[in-house]
Amino acid sequence: MGKKRKVISVIVLAVLLLGGLSVTASAQSLKSLSKQLRDLGREFYIGAAVPSNLGGSDQNIVTTEFDIMTCENDMKIGTISPNRGQYNYSGGDRVVNLARQNNMLVHGHAFVWHKYNPGWVDGTKSMMEEYITAVGNHFKGQIWGWDVVNEAFHRDGTFRINAIGSNGQDGASVFGQRQGKQYIEDAFKIAHRVDPNARLIYNDYSISTLDAKFNGMYTAMKDYMQRGIPITGVGFQMHLNPDFTEAMARSFGEKLQKLADIGLESYITEMDGGAPNTSTSGLEAQGDIYYWITKVALDQPMFKVLQVWGIRDSQNWRINPDAPEDKAVAPLIFNDNGQKKPAYYGIQRAMQEKIEELSETPTPTPVPTAEPFDLGDCNHDNAINIVDALLIAQNYVSLPVQNFYQESADVNCNGAVDIVDALLIAQYYVNLVPAFQC
Ligand code: G3I
Repeated sequence: MGKKRKVISVIVLAVLLLGGLSVTASAQSLKSLSKQLRDLGREFYIGAAVPSNLGGSDQNIVTTEFDIMTCENDMKIGTISPNRGQYNYSGGDRVVNLARQNNMLVHGHAFVWHKYNPGWVDGTKSMMEEYITAVGNHFKGQIWGWDVVNEAFHRDGTFRINAIGSNGQDGASVFGQRQGKQYIEDAFKIAHRVDPNARLIYNDYSISTLDAKFNGMYTAMKDYMQRGIPITGVGFQMHLNPDFTEAMARSFGEKLQKLADIGLESYITEMDGGAPNTSTSGLEAQGDIYYWITKVALDQPMFKVLQVWGIRDSQNWRINPDAPEDKAVAPLIFNDNGQKKPAYYGIQRAMQEKIEELSETPTPTPVPTAEPFDLGDCNHDNAINIVDALLIAQNYVSLPVQNFYQESADVNCNGAVDIVDALLIAQYYVNLVPAFQC
């Protein structure tokens, strides 16, 4: 290790120790906590869904508290392209610009969904390809990750093709009807071709609570991963009810692990969990749910993002939903006046606890000292860790991998990127190999 490196390491260590001492202060924004987690080697972003016409005080909340945003409606097909061949990007562009000005990420939502489509959407592959290509190209380079396919499974875990019964939740998909289940993998392939650096996400509701639905989805994802379909991870929407228990949170954690075991990241994309009522104890019970979920999610290293679906309670879709079963009481983490609720503090507490845990037991992950392009940092996230080893292994068996930089992967500098490099990184991760140098 060079002198300069040593100095940097000492400084970084001191900063981390100081950060560790201050994690008990509850005034820290969620955004500052997620930054501390990343500095400790735990890649994690906290976010919210926003409208493009964000009011001043909401904008202040968003830029202070969050580091990733989703357009609640402005990147949907009905907003972007109400008529075939016409594209209106103004709302999405506003959010992208706001993100850029505030050093935030943007999560794109969503390319293919069976609901709320304008009349011209006929569900054919050519239509789907035309739309993903145009929109993906427009936002290329600006989007951290796209929800490529949204809600493609019925609640019983079967592919959503035709409707089951008359309940809107198990309605038909025009994409499924025209293309069969093949449209799902084709959408991912198209999205990958258009924006190869964006994370590509399968997003759905009730997959944390309905085992049958999770299992159907998981089986399909496993098949896609085995066949090299370019999927980065699964988004759990998390439109929860007050009957959500700690045991259900643990079961959610097990589902995240199952996905991690097949190489998939996970995210909470749209969290809004209703409170039993707005009494102090009701809001505290809601806070517990937010706490359990954040805690379980942060325990899974492949879990990367937690987003709430809106800022203030009054703005959330569940206050006045289309279907009565979706109705919820005060589902978000800021109240109607923009004040922080126990739900906010539930997330904050779980993040602080994870920071304390990581600060107290320093892991061998040498994150803060890596620079992008350093040998070993194959995804250029400033960390040399087990994810880099996994990426090399996946690349070696010809699975398409995103965010993979070959020039950082040949850690033994023998001209080949192979399983030996993956092994060396794993050894480095557990401190058996000191450093990489050509
Ligand atoms: O902006 C118009 C307004 O000009 C008009 O006067 C008003 C009259 O109905 O409609 C307004 O648009 C509504 C829009 O929300 C903004 O409020 C649309 O009708 C309404 O359909 C739309 O609902 C959105 C819904 O998705 C359908 O796109 C909700 O805001 C949004 O929260 C909801 O989000 C979905 C996710 O995309 C996918 N997962 C489930 C989640 C909840 O349904």
